[in-house]
Amino acid sequence: MHSYDVFRHYERQHWRLADLDLDAIDPALVRPEYVTLAKSATMGESNVIAAVHGFLNEFDDYDFSTFAVVWGYQEVQHHYAFRAWLAAVGESVDDTAVGAMRQPYAPGTTPSATLATNIISELTVNHVYRAVSQWVGEPVLEGLLLNASRDEAGHAREFIHYTTQRLAQRPEELPSVLETLYVYSSEAKIKHPVSTFKSGLTELGEHETIDTGFELFLEQIAAEGELEVLHDKVRRTFAGITGLDLSTNARVRRALADAIA
Ligand SMILES: [Fe+2]
Ligand SMILES: [Fe+2]
Repeated sequence: MHSYDVFRHYERQHWRLADLDLDAIDPALVRPEYVTLAKSATMGESNVIAAVHGFLNEFDDYDFSTFAVVWGYQEVQHHYAFRAWLAAVGESVDDTAVGAMRQPYAPGTTPSATLATNIISELTVNHVYRAVSQWVGEPVLEGLLLNASRDEAGHAREFIHYTTQRLAQRPEELPSVLETLYVYSSEAKIKHPVSTFKSGLTELGEHETIDTGFELFLEQIAAEGELEVLHDKVRRTFAGITGLDLSTNARVRRALADAIA
């Protein structure tokens, strides 16, 4: 099973929360924006439980379900690692806000659409964490962001694997994948499934969410045209999966129309 190879790979490669050298943090280097970004990342990562719940409900495939559990462990590690960094600088996230992330959300229109959504979110978080790691001036947070960014790239790779495999078996789910990509590519800001599914929760109130971090990223960190670079990367990824020309959003729409016809 593919998840066995992933498990063995993670066991060989993976960093540990205990390796995070919290004593090495120099408080003088910590800016308020770093705290906002770490809180936002903590909240984004806390979506893992709802996501694993959703995967296990939606998929009856043992191999993918096993991967979902292994993947979930790493996302829990990210959640706790950002929380640990926050605690070390005297900050915290609100447990009520984290608790509000527990509820499962509605599945995608098809299992392939759910997988496609996760490819997009992994590529997005991979990109944002890497860019933010180059921007922050506090080495422990920088290292954490870089480690997490690499993990998200690895997660994207596995979701790509499972999407490719699923589409080979269920080609009728292709339109739902293209529709997911089209909706994403039409966005003028960075979106994550958590943004869509978990917006408007009263428990979150004024608390940081993953969107707080994305907004800060676009306003203060991202280079000119960086959102378009990310969109291009995502479209190229789906072009690789489907073998279709998805180089612009208009082409995605064309491919979607063709797939439905
Ligand atoms: Fe993560
Ligand atoms: Fe991830």
